[in-house]
Amino acid sequence: MISLTNKQIANLITVEQCIPVIEELFKNIENTQMPPKVYMNIPNGDFRSMPAVVGNTAGIKWCGLNIREEGKIHIFAKILINDTVSGDLLAIMDGELITAIRTAAVTGVATKYMAPEGSRVAAFVGCGAQTPNQIKAVCAVRDVERVNVFDLDRERMLGICRDMQDYKVEIHPCLGLEDCVGNADIVTTLTPARGDGYLEHCMLKDVCHVNAVGADALGKRELRKSVLEEIDVIVYDEWEQCSHSGEIQYYGANNDKPLLSLGGVVGGNEFERGGQTLFDATGLAIEDVATARYLYDKVRNNIMCG
Ligand SMILES: NC(=O)c1ccc[n+]([C@@H]2O[C@H](COP(=O)([O-])OP(=O)(O)OC[C@H]3O[C@@H](n4cnc5c(N)ncnc54)[C@H](O)[C@@H]3O)[C@@H](O)[C@H]2O)c1
Repeated sequence: MISLTNKQIANLITVEQCIPVIEELFKNIENTQMPPKVYMNIPNGDFRSMPAVVGNTAGIKWCGLNIREEGKIHIFAKILINDTVSGDLLAIMDGELITAIRTAAVTGVATKYMAPEGSRVAAFVGCGAQTPNQIKAVCAVRDVERVNVFDLDRERMLGICRDMQDYKVEIHPCLGLEDCVGNADIVTTLTPARGDGYLEHCMLKDVCHVNAVGADALGKRELRKSVLEEIDVIVYDEWEQCSHSGEIQYYGANNDKPLLSLGGVVGGNEFERGGQTLFDATGLAIEDVATARYLYDKVRNNIMCG
């Protein structure tokens, strides 16, 4: 059995390396099992268990969010994986960095298959913990020349520009939401917004791709009604989860926009290109297990070669 900390994981996998792992996962989606996440609410947050089987690996992410007395949000996550043939426990790993990397890698895969080929401008709304890896994922699959970022918290927005000043693409802070997304070929939303959302359809280019990542729980919402009503194609990571926790929870009974799964799109299901596309990501346990297995195999191979 091996155990890996976030620090060790940082030296073992990049977002760019995780993209093919996630692409392979969605190509072989029929070899997976994933019962719904179990949520348990506590007065100051929640705990979740996320089990899954991917090929010959069974695993679970056990994670939680607490708002501590001083108002600070505390997030924790651990991932366990077992071999399904022997039943042996293979590894226990910190889950925070794996979550950020696999979430970004999924954005990378969706962007690869859905965004306009000639995309040059990418916009990111929300400059929190997920965003640096999300920028890297989008820039890994398209020849992006300009990255726009916007956050209601100006310090966080300027912070990401400072932290990524040596990155291959220049990161531009924006004065407002429309300034950020208005000329973008790819828009990625990464905020914990609730209520009616904030992104309007009229802010988007006629040909563009949107990755909606922030809404991953009941009541969270980044896209205004107009986006779900007007966009040409909607792709979800997993139907049950998206219709409960993603933007698709607001899809509406009268909506007739085509709905496709990411597994189907990666597997070759064609959709009409040249318009506006949306990917709704809620984050799947299969992504955690596939990434943890990749890390386990890499460590084992290094031990055997060393
Ligand atoms: N889909 C998935 O697989 C997945 C995985 C991880 C996290 N998430 C979700 O993604 C979101 C972002 O995660 P994070 O860890 O980066 O959060 P974070 O708290 O580190 O950062 C969120 C940022 O969004 C900004 N923000 C809030 N409302 C905004 C608005 N209306 N416009 C612009 N900026 C706004 C905040 O100021 C903050 O800087 C969260 O909702 C999180 O739950 C989804």
